[in-house]
Amino acid sequence: MSNTPASAAALAPIRALPEHGCPHAELLESLRALHGADVDWKGGRVFSLVYHAGDAHSAFLKEAHAQFFSENGLNPLAFQSLKRMEKEVMRMTATMLHGDSNAVGTMTSGGTESLLLAVKTYRDLARKKRPWIRRPNVVLPVSAHPAFDKAGHYFGVRLKKAPLDAEMRVDVKKLARLIDRNTVMIAASAPQYPHGVLDPIAELGELARAKGLPFHVDACVGGFLLPFLEKLGLPMPLWDFRIPGVTSISADIHKYGYAAKGASTITYRSIDYLKHQFFVATDFPGGIYVSPSMPGTRPGGPIAAAWAGLQALGEDGLVDLARRAWEATRKLRDGIASIDGLRLVTDDPATIVCWASADPALDTFAVADQMEDRGWLVDRQHRPTTIHLTVTANHLAIADHYIADLRASVAHVRAHPELRSRGNAAMYGLVARLPARGAVRLAVEKMVEQMYGPDDAQTVPGQDGPLAKLLEKYGERALSALDHFDSLKSRVLGGGK
Ligand SMILES: Cc1ncc(COP(=O)(O)O)c(C=O)c1O
Repeated sequence: MSNTPASAAALAPIRALPEHGCPHAELLESLRALHGADVDWKGGRVFSLVYHAGDAHSAFLKEAHAQFFSENGLNPLAFQSLKRMEKEVMRMTATMLHGDSNAVGTMTSGGTESLLLAVKTYRDLARKKRPWIRRPNVVLPVSAHPAFDKAGHYFGVRLKKAPLDAEMRVDVKKLARLIDRNTVMIAASAPQYPHGVLDPIAELGELARAKGLPFHVDACVGGFLLPFLEKLGLPMPLWDFRIPGVTSISADIHKYGYAAKGASTITYRSIDYLKHQFFVATDFPGGIYVSPSMPGTRPGGPIAAAWAGLQALGEDGLVDLARRAWEATRKLRDGIASIDGLRLVTDDPATIVCWASADPALDTFAVADQMEDRGWLVDRQHRPTTIHLTVTANHLAIADHYIADLRASVAHVRAHPELRSRGNAAMYGLVARLPARGAVRLAVEKMVEQMYGPDDAQTVPGQDGPLAKLLEKYGERALSALDHFDSLKSRVLGGGK
């Protein structure tokens, strides 16, 4: 290593361990340079991925995390501190979710692990209670997070997905029809990620009780948000343990609990469910091995930071953060509703904003490209085509700026409708609408291989993939063919884009 690098691009690629150790100062400088290429999350330019409750809170979390940087929760006898903190975090969570004194659970590394565990737990419960089931399945909405698909893939559980109604909530009648003798669990979300709506948890709870099935509510996003929006007086349907049929809830502290990353929870109504989550190996020559969740080594930092962070904020701090996130949400929703040609997809009492074009002549993804040119990281969604914003307290300061840029972007795309067949707009449009989903999967798999493959070249993912080639060759013609296909489909089936 030589002089202080000015930017990430100036850093020489690392191909092997350096022969001799490098000076700390130089490496810390390189880390700062690497940061330089990242999105400006602190400035509110990204809506998801990072939940920021201010510099003072972050500094405090780092200190708490650092105190338990080396400790390992795998052995609760060695680190009784971590066991106690985990228990107390779980107690705070269970009480917040209106569980009674029987409610118990574990911390996990994130929402994905919590959902993987829910599926594994209920599969194993069914194995015990209904051993004749050969091909277990889970019934859930199409809007449920892909971590459920991952769980199904990992654990050999089939997912049966119910469609949404016009308000993007799962259609309970259609979901009920998917339940069969191999169903081991029902799942739904509060709120679901794509559009931010709460599924009808009360109705689903009744259904679960009537069928004698466990019911998991994925409140990874809402767990540490909805209770505080409710305290602010927002009209909030019941969705937690107050619904008798709900048997477990996942809630991420590293989202709206504004904790350090690596902190989620899964809480069960009682130990009768939780006990099916645990793993015990008795014959390992290394001794008896017990694991309450998925990892072996359990880092102490996220547990300590969550324990300290929740208490540092307290209920009034979390209510205040929820209030600011809600104010930002209202500002954004009102601003979007005032822009001619755009529509809000939903208006639920959660802090996710979802918008789309309301005008066939205005391409949503072309507007998204314009926003990206103005420095915003945009979450494009499909089926139907929409744009997603997970709004946090940190976004209150930039809501007006976002709306001004969105207004300008819409005006620009109206003046240049040909933008829909250029750049990312064309690529995302094609990926969203191509009926051959197998081809889309192959293209995405290729892209991931490129990202993790041995290639030396610094490739931009997807840019020279098969879909990019298709677009280069056929451009507007490919999109027009899809328009034609969509209108044919809607005439025959009554479906849309
Ligand atoms: C509703 C929902 N569930 C689960 C998850 C997965 O959480 P994580 O990314 O922490 O694994 C997410 C992530 O955004 C989510 O929105």
